[in-house]
Amino acid sequence: MSSFSEFPFRALPEALLPWYAACARPLPWRESRDPYRVWISEIMLQQTRVAAVLEYYARFLAALPDVFALASVDEARLLKLWEGLGYYRRARNLKRAAEVIVAEYGGVFPEAYAALRALPGIGDYTAGAIASICFDAPTPAIDGNVLRIAARLADCADCVDAPSTKRALHEALAAAYPPGQCGAFTQALMELGATVCLPGGAPRCAVCPAASLCRSRMHGTARELPVRAKKQQRRIEAYTALLLVDPDGRIALCKRPESGLLGGLWALPNAPGARGPQEALALAEAFGAKPLSLAASAEYTHVFTHVEWRITCYRIACAAPEGKSACIWADADARAAHYALPTAFAKALEHLHLEQR
Ligand code: ADE
Repeated sequence: MSSFSEFPFRALPEALLPWYAACARPLPWRESRDPYRVWISEIMLQQTRVAAVLEYYARFLAALPDVFALASVDEARLLKLWEGLGYYRRARNLKRAAEVIVAEYGGVFPEAYAALRALPGIGDYTAGAIASICFDAPTPAIDGNVLRIAARLADCADCVDAPSTKRALHEALAAAYPPGQCGAFTQALMELGATVCLPGGAPRCAVCPAASLCRSRMHGTARELPVRAKKQQRRIEAYTALLLVDPDGRIALCKRPESGLLGGLWALPNAPGARGPQEALALAEAFGAKPLSLAASAEYTHVFTHVEWRITCYRIACAAPEGKSACIWADADARAAHYALPTAFAKALEHLHLEQR
């Protein structure tokens, strides 16, 4: 076992760049060095697989083609474009950062790592990715993939979640960045992590362009690396969610409080705890609805980063709403156009077989 400072990262560009030029997947954000496009892709890719991002990415850029469009979009539209991607704070931070870029930089992306890093929602990884890919800066973009690759190359068993390990890798990798090809090097590392140096027991060492450099391959330790910190167990919480349907097929939606999980987003009327059918009917009344009959129920789980929701949901036929209600009532067209419903609640519509159109 060794450390990052002992490994010859300087030999890596020579091994990876020709392979990347020949084998890189043709992905839409690789077609230009426009920092706006690269930024949006990197934020989306932090939470979601490439295959799932492709459609969101195309739709987002068609709707908001530049930083001015993003800075002035209204929040409901932004959230609608983000609906289903999760981590909605990232979408809000995109807009906040766009506002800063317009107000302070006249709409032109800053090039310096430190200026990028200071924008809302841009951390070390994203600043490193944008600065290297768009501006050819020797700034590593270190995510879980790069940590895994480096730990294996160097046969390093230090815990990669420790800030000191990341700092050591940052320093060693930055010194290896090839001037003029910094962006390709960053992307080659990403590509290697996504297609060759796969996690767990699946590294494809036989096709790895860096196999001859790889110390864990030499020592047979690749499958045990990287060493990660123990993950905290997720907290489990029970909720009851109501799919209240009026005679016109509209459903009730309510806004979540601004702070906390899914803050400020639309939701189905809900309450903590797994409630029984009678309690569900009473809960519907508490939300200002007029429940007529309970049509169906289901249970499902939705996993967030730190919490797992066990959701009991009920479909309840309601009389036409009148007077004041804690909810708005939206038909399928209005929902498709205006109301972003996070997946944690959208799953209830599927489980309870609500026709979407
Ligand atoms: N994962 C994170 N960034 C990526 C990129 N630019 N291309 C492919 N996968 C990625």
